[in-house]
Amino acid sequence: MNMRVSVAPDDTCELLAAVCKAAGDALRLRVLRVLAHDSFGVLELAQIFAIGQSGMSHHLKVLAQAGLVATRREGNAIFYRRALPQPDRTGGALHIALLDEVDRLELPAPVQDGVCRVHEQRAAASHEFFVRMAEKFQAQQDLIAGLPQYGDSVLALLDTLSWPEKATALEIGPGDGSFLPELARRFRHVTAVDNNPAMLEQANQRCVEHQLQNVTLKLADALAESEAAADCVIVNMVLHHFEQPETAIGRLARLVNPGGGLLLTELCNHDQKWAREACGDLWLGFEQDDLARWAEAAGLLSGESLYIGLRNGFQIQVRHFAKPVEDRLTHR
Ligand SMILES: C[S@@+](CC[C@H](N)C(=O)[O-])C[C@H]1O[C@@H](n2cnc3c(N)ncnc32)[C@H](O)[C@@H]1O
Repeated sequence: MNMRVSVAPDDTCELLAAVCKAAGDALRLRVLRVLAHDSFGVLELAQIFAIGQSGMSHHLKVLAQAGLVATRREGNAIFYRRALPQPDRTGGALHIALLDEVDRLELPAPVQDGVCRVHEQRAAASHEFFVRMAEKFQAQQDLIAGLPQYGDSVLALLDTLSWPEKATALEIGPGDGSFLPELARRFRHVTAVDNNPAMLEQANQRCVEHQLQNVTLKLADALAESEAAADCVIVNMVLHHFEQPETAIGRLARLVNPGGGLLLTELCNHDQKWAREACGDLWLGFEQDDLARWAEAAGLLSGESLYIGLRNGFQIQVRHFAKPVEDRLTHR
């Protein structure tokens, strides 16, 4: 996600001092704690910790100068996440030890409530968008990229992979169901889960039109409810609507059978902030490395990737992440 880390002065002693100074404050340590698996904007963090925006900006500046947080611009907003420790650089060992200690901190209940509230606000914004826009779905999709632009690439990648006999597929967020006929042709059974009744109705019409007998549609929040695992989990242009993409990838990884794979199509990182209002996007695409890091943390292995440049300047990434077969043994 085009993260930038503010590098502290060259002087190694000053760098260490900056890390110590940044760590010498309870609120800043808690900020690092809430950023363990998430990234937040200044306003969101100010809300979580119930302090003013300028106070929070000050704390984030201190953390950034110490190289403990990294920034990513999304339109007018700046999002903060933890910077990755660099073990070979001055302060690297301290940084690792600090995060290790920070991760053992129990967050006060009001802070935990604040994090939940921010996640709920993000989820509500995404859900409301699809409720409002169901009828204009195709037009809105086409503002950036519709299935015609990336469907063939997803299929090309899908068809290079070998699937077990009688393999099953699970599509998360099928939208109007345009991809279901292709999946139904390739898999013994396909389940498609969408949390929007109007979108699911469109998907249902698609199934009827194409006489798809092996597709089950389910109205559910794909992250909240437990779905049966499948050999191939397909997530086309949905991740940027999830309030916590890193956690979402962890949950999606659990839905993949050992030996199977997660096929993820997403926008690459971009700065077109109008996409938030026009397309309900919570995230302006993703940095390729972030997706790989999150998937690998969830026990998946990075496979092939395809990148599709669009005439409107957006770029799409089609990613395959494999679940090792050994999981069959470890998860018994
Ligand atoms: C941008 S559309 C993508 C549709 C389709 N996959 C495509 O590529 O054309 C995102 C879809 O994900 C669904 N969605 C968003 N959040 C979801 C959730 N938490 N659980 C299930 N579906 C979700 C929306 O209702 C919508 O149908």
